[in-house]
Amino acid sequence: GQQYVGLDVGGTTMKAAVVGDDGSPRSKPVVMDTNPERGQDAGLETMCEAIRRAVAAAGLTLPDVTAIGVATPGLMDIKAGLILDPPNLKPWKNVPVRDHIQGVFRIPTIYQNDANAAAYGEFWVGSGQEARSMVLFTLGTGVGGGIIIDDVILSGEHSHGGELGHMRIEMPDRGRLCGCGARGCLEAYASATNVVRRAREDMAAYRGATKLRDYYTANDDVLTAKVVFDLAHAGDELATQVVDDTAFYLALGATALTAVVDPEMVVFGGGMVAAGEWFRAKIDAQVRRFGLPFPTKSLKVAFASLGSDAGFIGAAGWARAATRGKA
Ligand code: BGC
Ligand code: NA
Ligand code: ZN
Repeated sequence: GQQYVGLDVGGTTMKAAVVGDDGSPRSKPVVMDTNPERGQDAGLETMCEAIRRAVAAAGLTLPDVTAIGVATPGLMDIKAGLILDPPNLKPWKNVPVRDHIQGVFRIPTIYQNDANAAAYGEFWVGSGQEARSMVLFTLGTGVGGGIIIDDVILSGEHSHGGELGHMRIEMPDRGRLCGCGARGCLEAYASATNVVRRAREDMAAYRGATKLRDYYTANDDVLTAKVVFDLAHAGDELATQVVDDTAFYLALGATALTAVVDPEMVVFGGGMVAAGEWFRAKIDAQVRRFGLPFPTKSLKVAFASLGSDAGFIGAAGWARAATRGKA
């Protein structure tokens, strides 16, 4: 079979591996620090090094590779292969990532949004492999999204198709401020960073005793989304409210998507889904409660199954699709 390299570049680390036609990685992924503050030339060199190491880790050489798939967070120009100005990759600007990598390796290189790639990975060999249409939300530092219909990623005219974290779920005049500069985006409520921010605000307004405040006071004001989820799971009332609100916001996003795409499945991935079935059930319940009655009756709400491998697997899978004329 053919072999494809998938590279998923995040704000903190990047991950790469060779993936076969069956969607399985040929080795454990190579993980390297992105260090965007060292500048974009250093960043491009790290990406190339990650690709070289991934090929070596698979026991292959470059001529064995049919295509390379690279994924990065937005803002980006997918058609031009450019990283534009992503908040998570500061200070990079207008980085010609696709042409640089293609020029260095002389192998066809395909470029995608990180969450679109993760969605494609889940659709190809993860939670969505039985579905014909699927929407993915990735819940991490940011909220990413991806829409796959009949094996095709919907990336839109301005590379903004599937930017589900920037769907407006609140009026701009009273909405929370998002990293993108707008107000009322889903990401401003449901990203890991914003779960913590909301927890702090709710804590300040809460009169009763709460484990959340005990933790916050005892741990030198260090609070993470995982702590909020753990305390909620352990029964703390305020933490539970923060998690229930999170499930509600995500359900608003999911049901909006039902009206636009009407997918077979909505899948949630990213660090926050480590909370497990208990959290999935909360989102599911809110979707049933607030969703459009007819389509949500049979909409499946699932958690992702590929973990943090979804991005590079999907980037490789999309490169494979492109060489077969789909992308
Ligand atoms: C960006 C998306 C990205 C997501 C996850 C968002 O802030 O706008 O392009 O997919 O974060 O990295
Ligand atoms: Na996306
Ligand atoms: Zn936004």
